Amino acid sequence: MNRTAMCATPPMGWNSWNTFTDKINEELILTTADTMVESGLLQAGYNYLVIDDCWSLKERDAQGNLVADPEKFPHGMAYLADALHKKGLKFGMYSCCGTRTCAGYPASFEHEFEDARQFAQWGVDYLKYDNCYKPRTISNELLFHRMGLALANCGRDIVFSACQWGTENVHNWIRSSGAHLFRSTGDVQNCWNSIRDIALSQMDKLGYGGSYCHNDLDMLVVGMYDAGGNEYISAGGCNDTEYQTHFALWAMMNSPLMIGCDIRTMNDTTKAILMNPEIIAINQDIECRAPYRIEAGPHPDNFVLAKHLSDGSLALGFFNFCDTEAVVSLEFWDLGLPHQAGYGLAFHDCLEHCDLGVVREHFSPQIAPHGCKIYRCRLVKEE
Ligand code: GLA
Repeated sequence: MNRTAMCATPPMGWNSWNTFTDKINEELILTTADTMVESGLLQAGYNYLVIDDCWSLKERDAQGNLVADPEKFPHGMAYLADALHKKGLKFGMYSCCGTRTCAGYPASFEHEFEDARQFAQWGVDYLKYDNCYKPRTISNELLFHRMGLALANCGRDIVFSACQWGTENVHNWIRSSGAHLFRSTGDVQNCWNSIRDIALSQMDKLGYGGSYCHNDLDMLVVGMYDAGGNEYISAGGCNDTEYQTHFALWAMMNSPLMIGCDIRTMNDTTKAILMNPEIIAINQDIECRAPYRIEAGPHPDNFVLAKHLSDGSLALGFFNFCDTEAVVSLEFWDLGLPHQAGYGLAFHDCLEHCDLGVVREHFSPQIAPHGCKIYRCRLVKEE
């Protein structure tokens, strides 16, 4: 079978972990799938529905196969894959490179090739592959290469989502393993400090991601408010300004966009954040150019991210990580546009959906605490 090149741009979808952890079952997955279609999420680009940890029985069967927990998934995984495919969705599952998954279920160490074939047989399209219970004598690099080979030869196109938490300098070798995305940080929490710390930790790593192998900043917590599948995840929640900034950061930093809230009960603000077509377009730009950071304020917590887009325009994100309002100031020479170049920038506001006209030399929006402004800017030659 010829494989298809997958994930030219960062994958988008929904993952069960952040809100539901081990409280997953067939009904949850099917009603979530229906919501992905009916709410417009699928049309907006979110096409992967991924079941995370805790889906199997605690032991393999006598033949050594992984077995779906019949209480949670009475009709099995092939049934679920089929149901999702009929709705136009793709089906994701989860395993781990060690002897057990992080929650203690059987994992794929030394079962890589048979598990990959099993996933293919069930109709799985995406595998999240975690990093727990790993024998200390074997390098991650080898284990992820092994699963990369197993998936590439299992007879089905399966996206390989490496979840390796940024350890062992993963950014240096992960692309070689065949992974389409790689987790580069520890687990996200549903609070501002976690979003801030993850974003800041990746500023010097953005150049390592790119087409077909994306730096994954972890699942989104947008719209979770006081929810969370366990105490670690539900860390107090964020306000809507912070959720908006979180989404804009993940989008501008070319992260996969995997929703983690209960979409069946999401409110209109959450929908508007997650389905903003102009922010999604920046994330899905075909060239996947890494953004770069420009210091832009009185305080180091004020900065701009600039991303070159394939139509020649620039995505500019103005961020204020301070706890108080701030003016974030960008001088266009820091973008490579000195005054004598003779270009202004036509600003389009991607959060307010309006044009601001042509701006010359510098731009200094006032930004709320933990807030952001995101613009798409076209170069305009001065007459
Ligand atoms: C790890 C991963 C999480 C989640 C859990 C499941 O902590 O990083 O994203 O998959 O395991 O147990």
